[in-house]
Amino acid sequence: MNSSDAQSPTKTLRVWDPLVRIFHWSLVASFATAWFSSSSRDDFHQWVGLLAAALITFRLLWGFIGTPYARFRQFIRSPWSVATYLVAIIKNSEARYIGHNPAGGFMVLALLAGIAATATTGYLMTTDAYYGDDFMQELHSLCADGMVLLILFHVAGVLLASKRHKENLIAAMLTGKKREATDSDVN
Ligand code: HEM
Ligand code: HEM
Repeated sequence: MNSSDAQSPTKTLRVWDPLVRIFHWSLVASFATAWFSSSSRDDFHQWVGLLAAALITFRLLWGFIGTPYARFRQFIRSPWSVATYLVAIIKNSEARYIGHNPAGGFMVLALLAGIAATATTGYLMTTDAYYGDDFMQELHSLCADGMVLLILFHVAGVLLASKRHKENLIAAMLTGKKREATDSDVN
């Protein structure tokens, strides 16, 4: 190895494609806007909520035809793998994954399903069948509150993984790049 190799910056790998990144930050913006506009008098709340639903629809499609790390089959793992991974986190011995780790993959599904449920119940409240229906309003409110809880766990998971693997995962969701895999990482 010559001296220039020794000083070369850490090699990176392109992981999150531009559409995944645009999807992610647009979803964050639309969810937050829907949350804070829930008592708006006009249709604004409904439109941003529907935008979140459209983003989820795109992501479901992209999970089948998208780039390698965006595909569901790359990061959806069995409940057993998720449980084993959570135990490894407790023991401080979890592997670094280049794509979503097993717990993160499960969280992605939960977040997508949670937003779909929130938007569906919200939409139903605007239909003739459920207009003014207390139960649907309760359900919509419960879905939205449940999402906030999931998001807190999601962000906590991101911060924990960033700390454990000494890698800024938030920056990776902005640039798309992560540190190259070593032999002990799962690709
Ligand atoms: C409304 C709030 C949020 C929602 C609904 C949400 C949803 C998601 C979803 C669906 C993914 C999977 C991305 C994909 O494969 O398409 C993801 C990943 C990710 N999110 Fe969020 N997110 C939210 C807030 C945040 C915030 C505030 C941060 C930063 C502090 C963040 C950081 C990340 C990171 C770093 C990943 C990649 C995780 C990994 O490396 O496996 N998210 N998020
Ligand atoms: C996915 C993002 C969404 C979030 C985070 C969200 C959140 C909320 C929250 C927190 C409330 C207040 C509930 C309460 O007062 O207990 C609310 C009310 C409501 N939402 Fe949503 N919502 C979303 C999407 C939608 C969509 C897509 C629609 C319709 C197309 C919709 C229609 C409504 C309606 C009609 C109300 C009742 C407003 C009122 O009290 O007059 N929401 N939403």
